[in-house]
Amino acid sequence: MPLVYQQDINDECRLGVWEISEAEDFFLQKVAPIRQISHPHKRIQHLAGRYLLLELFPDFPIDLVMLADTRRPFLPGGPFHFSVSHGGDFAAALVSRKFRAGVDVELIGPRIQSLQHKFLSNHESLLLDQWPCSRMQALTMAWSMKESMFKWNAGSGIDFRQHLQLKELHHVNGYYKADAVLKKDAPRYLPLHGLLFPGFALTWVLANG
Ligand SMILES: CC(C)(COP(=O)(O)OP(=O)(O)OC[C@H]1O[C@@H](n2cnc3c(N)ncnc32)[C@H](O)[C@@H]1OP(=O)(O)O)[C@@H](O)C(=O)NCCC(=O)NCCS
Repeated sequence: MPLVYQQDINDECRLGVWEISEAEDFFLQKVAPIRQISHPHKRIQHLAGRYLLLELFPDFPIDLVMLADTRRPFLPGGPFHFSVSHGGDFAAALVSRKFRAGVDVELIGPRIQSLQHKFLSNHESLLLDQWPCSRMQALTMAWSMKESMFKWNAGSGIDFRQHLQLKELHHVNGYYKADAVLKKDAPRYLPLHGLLFPGFALTWVLANG
């Protein structure tokens, strides 16, 4: 199946979600894995993410992508910033010519309820009532936003409760939004965006690095 969602955020930045129904060979026509992955579905997810980068920007230099020690993929010296995520049969990518990017796709399911105390403060937990969705959807959205921040930051030693904090939540024209702060060194305020789809949440952050 092709792209199931694409948003051209502006001239220099595109966001997309691919629903994976193809066999591995389909993706291998255009992209190769950057590392060895033995699990077949994880390998297809990885290939779909790389394929999606090319779908969003056909001039994306996929063969120049390198892997940092943290396993974060990056393009040395530009010309694109990007982030990739996958969950179940979905792959998401965010590509920007200007800003550092973090994206996350998260399947919605009851497992998140038992994890909430690991990543949410009591204050954040109360804030979630401000979003017009079920508790399970709100928890998934909050977790996904913190994953997007984690990926944007690309650093180590991040504790989701202590260092990634959601401060104010909004819901505007169908978009879930959060003013968040990354509190590792000097506080860094970040605008988080999210959308709910049947079965999954998609979140992203774009900001100067
Ligand atoms: C790295 C991490 C963010 C990946 O998230 P995930 O939900 O497992 O997987 P996703 O599908 O969303 O993202 C995977 C993609 O992120 C990218 N990625 C991997 N490591 C990364 C890193 N350190 N920084 C940024 N991006 C990274 C890669 O593109 C990867 O896909 P690929 O290998 O196919 O290219 C996650 O494993 C992690 O470390 N999370 C934070 C730690 C944590 O969970 N703490 C618990 C708090 S309660």
